[in-house]
Amino acid sequence: MTELDKINIGLLGAGVVGGSVLDYYYHSRDRIAQITGIPIEISHVLIKDSQKARNVSIPDGVLTTTLDDITLNPNINVVVSLLGNEDFERYAVSRSLSQGKFVVTANKMIISKYGPELFDIAKEHGVSLMFEAAVGGGIQIIDNLINRYTPNRIQSVLGILNGTTNFILTKMAKERMAFEDALAFAQEAGLAEPDTTNDIEGYNAAYKLAILASLAFRKGWVDPSQIHCEGITQIHSRDFKNAEDMGYVIKLIATANDTQRGIEAWVAPVLLPHNHLLTNIDGQLNGILLRGDPIGDTQLAGAGAGGETTAASVWSDIFKATHHLRRNTLPEDNFFQGQANVVSFDECAHSNYVRLTIRDGLRIVQDIGRICSDNLVSINQILQLKDRKWVEDGIDLAEMAIDMDPSGEGNITQAIADIARAPYCVEIGSRFRVLS
Ligand SMILES: NC(=O)c1ccc[n+]([C@@H]2O[C@H](COP(=O)([O-])OP(=O)(O)OC[C@H]3O[C@@H](n4cnc5c(N)ncnc54)[C@H](OP(=O)(O)O)[C@@H]3O)[C@@H](O)[C@H]2O)c1
Repeated sequence: MTELDKINIGLLGAGVVGGSVLDYYYHSRDRIAQITGIPIEISHVLIKDSQKARNVSIPDGVLTTTLDDITLNPNINVVVSLLGNEDFERYAVSRSLSQGKFVVTANKMIISKYGPELFDIAKEHGVSLMFEAAVGGGIQIIDNLINRYTPNRIQSVLGILNGTTNFILTKMAKERMAFEDALAFAQEAGLAEPDTTNDIEGYNAAYKLAILASLAFRKGWVDPSQIHCEGITQIHSRDFKNAEDMGYVIKLIATANDTQRGIEAWVAPVLLPHNHLLTNIDGQLNGILLRGDPIGDTQLAGAGAGGETTAASVWSDIFKATHHLRRNTLPEDNFFQGQANVVSFDECAHSNYVRLTIRDGLRIVQDIGRICSDNLVSINQILQLKDRKWVEDGIDLAEMAIDMDPSGEGNITQAIADIARAPYCVEIGSRFRVLS
């Protein structure tokens, strides 16, 4: 075996994260050399638009718009893929792996959707696929789950995994902004992508949860399409006041539990009690709470997004790749073997809180009670919300909240649908799971 005397990197993408990876490279050469003990060069950088102005100055001859300049270049040992799209990045990563290159990526979507396929290609070609930056920005949860928490049996993962939605919810809670205004604010501040669907509908959090649950439970790959997903678009600013009055805060939570029936995994807006460990994770921060045996509860928190912090996680993977390339070894990668059994969300049981608008009248509480009982849903309390009575088009309207005891999600969904059809129901406003 000839000893490597240099590592050549091909970087795919020079956007927010790719630009920060380059910035670190140009400004931290001494530190990089000290850590790796071997010269490292970013020899090629793939971009789409060669006319675009870049925040970082890149030497002549490094930029290319041709993927194969990198994937078919025999001198490149590590491909760092920071493109952020689905089909093209899946292709670029699999092509790089099949050309015998280590790959580092931050793309949670391709890891969670195509992880098993990509890891098989890596194994077949004796290389490794690393993805520390795909979840939690700079928090380093991936390496902790793969290498550090291994003696523990992790029973649950509970996380605020999306900085954009957490930023929006924090604005709505602290400044009583309407959802649309908080979203526009996040976009203007560059904290939300132009297309926010994956963030606000909870899909990005579900991709990350699928990765965490696969690594934490080691019961096989968790398919993200089996994760029940609700976003934050239905939350009204007055829900925050109601939540506060009851001693709760509202957060978009991604959670997975390893149960005897299989893995329960979902993403939805949740009421968290004020003293919960995740209630103070505000703004763009991410927070992850693991419950395991014997470790008990342990929390990791920090900047979940942003070019520089994410680039730090990318570099930690580059250093790891360098370590293995120099010793001709491979890191552990058997975490996506087989498919995990994910329990249907309808079979999971949670407490629910539902806000609705009704035409004020008699026997409504009684009728809601009957509907819930018919659907095997037990009610903890029905509340007439304070100061929420008004007249519209001569009709007396009022707002109510139903606090439901833990019951099967399928039963609760049916009960809510039945209430929505009742003649007194004007609108089902919002629905939250309640966690203790
Ligand atoms: N931004 C964050 O805070 C953050 C945090 C955690 C993880 N991530 C993940 O990191 C990855 C990169 O995100 P980002 O925010 O850096 O994205 P970005 O700013 O949109 O940058 C994407 C880069 O990829 C290039 N690119 C895209 N499609 C291409 C194609 N078909 N051919 C050639 N080049 C192409 C773009 O080229 P041009 O510059 O020429 O347009 C751009 O340089 C994503 O997977 C994202 O989910 C981002």
